[in-house]
Amino acid sequence: MNIYGLNSNGKFGEFGGQYVAETLMPALLELEKVFYESIEDDSFQSQYRAILRDYVGRPSPLYYARRLSEYCGGAQIWLKREDLNHTGAHKINNTVGQALLARKMGKKRLIAETGAGMHGVATATVAALFGMTCDVYMGAEDIRRQAQNVERMKMLGANLIGVELKSGTATLKDAMNEALRNWVATVENTFYVIGTAAGPHPYPAMVKAFQSVIGEEAKSQLKAACGRLPSQVVACVGGGSNAIGMFAPFIDEPSVALYGAEAAGDGIDTGRHAASLSGGSVGVLHGNKTYLLQDEYGQISDTHSVSAGLDYPGVGPEHSYMKSTGRANYIPIDDAQAVDAFQKLCRLEGIIPALESSHAVALAMVNAKKLSKDDIIVVCLSGRGDKDMDSVLEYLKKNA
Ligand SMILES: Cc1ncc(COP(=O)(O)O)c(C=O)c1O
Repeated sequence: MNIYGLNSNGKFGEFGGQYVAETLMPALLELEKVFYESIEDDSFQSQYRAILRDYVGRPSPLYYARRLSEYCGGAQIWLKREDLNHTGAHKINNTVGQALLARKMGKKRLIAETGAGMHGVATATVAALFGMTCDVYMGAEDIRRQAQNVERMKMLGANLIGVELKSGTATLKDAMNEALRNWVATVENTFYVIGTAAGPHPYPAMVKAFQSVIGEEAKSQLKAACGRLPSQVVACVGGGSNAIGMFAPFIDEPSVALYGAEAAGDGIDTGRHAASLSGGSVGVLHGNKTYLLQDEYGQISDTHSVSAGLDYPGVGPEHSYMKSTGRANYIPIDDAQAVDAFQKLCRLEGIIPALESSHAVALAMVNAKKLSKDDIIVVCLSGRGDKDMDSVLEYLKKNA
């Protein structure tokens, strides 16, 4: 497995690590051991691959977006259709893997944090599949703006724990705080299914391993269709799981440029954004050292994005590392660009994308115009947009 730059103490360069309460260390060490054993184990891999094939519906298609490409007038834009997975996003690739590890470790209760609700739905789904109980932590603001996913989680049998406004914005960061707090108290019987490539080691490496299927499939599908590598791959970056999964098999291909689209909200200059790599500085949050949005005292700043899944003040440590080495480029995309890309994909391709994924589409549209028709951009279309209809309508009404 390619864990780019990961060293033996669980860090990518200076980023990552295990900045957690003493009580969690035995659980993290056990998890690390089980993860490394399992990922090399043929029987674990065949169980994981079988569920991805028969239940999730993989491989997801790689689709040439002809009309969108023609509209942009430059490079060919291809979409990796993670929106077509069971439950409607890439999140299920990771929850299947982590639930298999939980089962192997004898844990009967799953907990998860969620922002847009897609990771909560994907965790509730695997809990039902494996006969486990499931508690999902979600900020009150996200419960309001992602109401459809709240009902889906309940329907699937999960218990939803709303995180009210104690401090901050009652979004993803606050949900993750509460989930970590609960895990400290319940670690004996509980497996914490983290939904993004952040958190303490081994989570970033583990989430990458389970999401790498996105990039691996895209690479071989493009080779079969066009006989070559893309010029660029593009993905949105919240905590960074779909992006790291998409980037993974291309990291060692120097001819392929890697682009992450961060949520610039109202614009980096306004301070109302969630672009940790473009507008943040290095600090520690949720067990790892990474780029964060924080004030001069290290207090985490409030974030804003039209997209709940990108509304997070940190980012996975491997992205911080790839920013520092220059291997990947992270570009801010604001709410207006994302909503415009959302509408373009609806009208030009008949696909309603998630608002998170719309940030990646918007960046691909910007980049495509600077390239030629021989260039290929592969975009991770990380999820579908049914959950975002209310947010988009509200945005359009406000900005009419
Ligand atoms: C569809 C979709 N894409 C992307 C993200 C962002 O997460 P990540 O950066 O971990 O891929 C989310 C998070 O909720 C999501 O629901």
